[in-house]
Amino acid sequence: MKILVTGGAGFIGSAVVRLAVRRGHEVVNLDALTYAANLENVASVSNSPLYAFEQADLRDRTALDRVLDTHKPDAIMHLAAESHVDRSIDGPGDFIETNITGTYNLLEAARAYWVGQGRPEGFRFHHISTDEVFGSLGETGQFTEETPYDPRSPYSASKAASDHLVRAWHETYGLPVVLTNCSNNYGPFHFPEKLVPVVILNALHGRPIPVYGDGGNVRDWLYVEDHADALLLVLEKGELGRSYNIGGENEAKNIDLVRTICAEMDRLRPENAPHDKLITFVTDRPGHDRRYAIDPDRIRTELGWRPSVTVEEGLRQTVEWYLDNADWWQPLLARKGVGERLGKA
Ligand SMILES: NC(=O)c1ccc[n+]([C@@H]2O[C@H](COP(=O)([O-])OP(=O)(O)OC[C@H]3O[C@@H](n4cnc5c(N)ncnc54)[C@H](O)[C@@H]3O)[C@@H](O)[C@H]2O)c1
Repeated sequence: MKILVTGGAGFIGSAVVRLAVRRGHEVVNLDALTYAANLENVASVSNSPLYAFEQADLRDRTALDRVLDTHKPDAIMHLAAESHVDRSIDGPGDFIETNITGTYNLLEAARAYWVGQGRPEGFRFHHISTDEVFGSLGETGQFTEETPYDPRSPYSASKAASDHLVRAWHETYGLPVVLTNCSNNYGPFHFPEKLVPVVILNALHGRPIPVYGDGGNVRDWLYVEDHADALLLVLEKGELGRSYNIGGENEAKNIDLVRTICAEMDRLRPENAPHDKLITFVTDRPGHDRRYAIDPDRIRTELGWRPSVTVEEGLRQTVEWYLDNADWWQPLLARKGVGERLGKA
């Protein structure tokens, strides 16, 4: 297949690009290269004849038309987005423009391209979204694909809007779409403003490890390479118009996740143990969703997919990767907003 991946210089998009090329697909990586992007994430495949890069912005419809006409992909995997909840609290405008208007532009460009190609049956528009669109759970229950949307942050509201647009383009224009909503990802190449890399790097540098509120917020954690594997499976085998929830089968309170990472740091850097002495509780994020949990039944029973690693294994690999790859993360610490407390409203 020739796949156009949007956001392929970001965290999850780059995992998709690397895996797709390894599996012999042709990949066109379309990315605007915002603060969150890093072409080093795809350095391992960038010399492959199967790989091409196009710097283009979802807000620029003409550029999207040009990329589609030039490369003529068989499928689009749409991951490009503004993705950081704290930044969405401080500046929601970028989230509206990229996640909503940008997705609208891509849908319209994809529709024109698909119609122009004679509506090929095998064409797919795969929209990648988040479990945050479902809102916050109490102590029990899980999100299924039928759970009503109830987004609560500017980020999740913008992603919810984009999901609705994608379904509408399927129902109204027949665009062949599939959707996925997945839980919190972690793993190599994760931009150092997100929880897992923040904990690793602050522990490494002996700096306070910030934990929002009481640390009792619960998330499901999915290793990014497992996510990329699930996404390629849904692209190839998912039923048209259907959405699939993807989870790691690893629910954990933030504080427990942080303590697990500290224990890994104790093992790898025993001279500075115990790292959990650095844990510092800070003012909570406004509107902080309490609990997310994924019911993975559909993807498991219909497509036979399950995550390959436990959170303990995935975190071990992730901590080792960060300790071995300072050249990757060091320059990113200088980017705007990194290391600052954002999103206090
Ligand atoms: N990270 C998670 O835990 C998680 C969980 C579920 C779903 N998702 C979804 O997966 C997707 C990828 O997330 P991520 O964590 O890799 O994000 P990321 O922030 O690491 O990467 C986003 C990429 O999109 C690009 N981009 C942003 N605005 C753009 C624009 N206007 N035009 C073109 N490119 C643009 C950026 O340059 C960057 O390379 C997002 O749609 C996100 O909502 C993420």
